[in-house]
Amino acid sequence: MTGPAVLLLDAAGPESAALARAAAARGQQVHAATAEAARREPTAKFAGQVITDFTRPDRAVEQITAYARHHDVGAVLTVNEYLTELASLVCAELGLPGNDPHLAHAARDKAAMARVLAGAGVRIPYTRLARDDGELHDALHDRQVGFPCVIKPAAGAGSAGVIVVTALAEAAPAAVAARSAHQTDGGEGHTGIVVQAYAAGTEYSVESVTQNGTTTHLAITRKATTSGPCRVETGHSLPVCLPPSTAAALHQEVRTAIQAVGIRNGASHTEVVLDPAGRCTVIEIAARLGAGHIGILLRHALGIDVFAALLDVALGRPAAFAPTACGHATVRFITSPRTGRLTSLSRVPEQGPGVPFVRWRAAVGDLVHAARANTDRLGCFVVTGQDADEVEERADALRRRIRIQVEPLPAAGGPGQVRLARREAIAW
Ligand SMILES: Nc1ncnc2c1ncn2[C@@H]1O[C@H](COP(=O)(O)OP(=O)(O)OP(=O)(O)O)[C@@H](O)[C@H]1O
Ligand SMILES: [Mg+2]
Repeated sequence: MTGPAVLLLDAAGPESAALARAAAARGQQVHAATAEAARREPTAKFAGQVITDFTRPDRAVEQITAYARHHDVGAVLTVNEYLTELASLVCAELGLPGNDPHLAHAARDKAAMARVLAGAGVRIPYTRLARDDGELHDALHDRQVGFPCVIKPAAGAGSAGVIVVTALAEAAPAAVAARSAHQTDGGEGHTGIVVQAYAAGTEYSVESVTQNGTTTHLAITRKATTSGPCRVETGHSLPVCLPPSTAAALHQEVRTAIQAVGIRNGASHTEVVLDPAGRCTVIEIAARLGAGHIGILLRHALGIDVFAALLDVALGRPAAFAPTACGHATVRFITSPRTGRLTSLSRVPEQGPGVPFVRWRAAVGDLVHAARANTDRLGCFVVTGQDADEVEERADALRRRIRIQVEPLPAAGGPGQVRLARREAIAW
């Protein structure tokens, strides 16, 4: 093995596996910091791992930096949104390329994010933090919030506990759901919820990589979500070609947001809404690669090896982000029509030409949920090709072929008890 070692904070999931493969392909040793070795199946072979408690950031920084020094680690990365703040602290402590540790919380905590982005002049939905019922009452009666509005955990991810509320009467149960959707993997102190004005329009995300404070936008992604109170992501398509002036304004707004939350070295995924007049509102920014297989879409549509590029950024080496292809790629996520037992699943797309990736994690017999969060999704497939319209039509046709049967749950305690789908098995 040659070159400095790489340390991944939380090595679970397909994006971590892709980073580990990219590092191993260059002959670099890969280590993992993990919360509890026994509970998480490693997605790749690691040279070693440090077990730590991610909910105790001070101790975690100490343990991880001691381990990193001992193993000549030259790059620290994470694709886990809950750990981006910790990654910035570890990088700063080790003197490795990373993000500003004093601002990193603003890419995690949506109340801090709103303050910092508004302070930098970024257009965002009007946002109020509600730490208790009194603040919730005040926020809901604030005319700048209005209805519909969105209630969500201040430090959530994966759309868990994010609820669109159309009237005052819906707010109390939404607040309970948002409060109970607290993170399991991150630091302490993020227990509040935020109440946000609703930004109407079309949703996009911007995938960017920043190196030494200079940002390259890799693609604009069109995003599809469920409608109704819960907004679960059902698809991503890239690259999107917007009118040049709209794209330029969008990129400028995103660059300002990236700088404002202290992203200096690493990936970012910025979610925006464009209104019919082409005005951009930033819904949120995360200091990580877009989840939902956006790395795979970048590779197949644009020929960008984002994982190799992110390793170079983390190592402080010149990184290549230039597209080498001009195709189109989309991922479709499949959700259950209702909560119940999955009794049959057929006509699922198969991996092959033009369908480079299929992942189906819910099995017949599992208890599945009508989609309330991204973790409730049952599976997904990626479709690629040269022509955007053709790719989208093929993806829609493949989606329509899938047959899913979900039976209502039997009465509690009665015969035919169902097996609960492991949440982490369908968490991506
Ligand atoms: N203020 C808003 N106006 C309109 N829609 C919103 C707003 N806030 C959230 N949404 C919708 O809810 C979805 C999830 O919200 P948000 O991105 O804030 O939560 P999250 O848990 O960080 O999600 P993820 O980690 O999946 O990106 C958004 O993609 C969007 O569809
Ligand atoms: Mg989001």
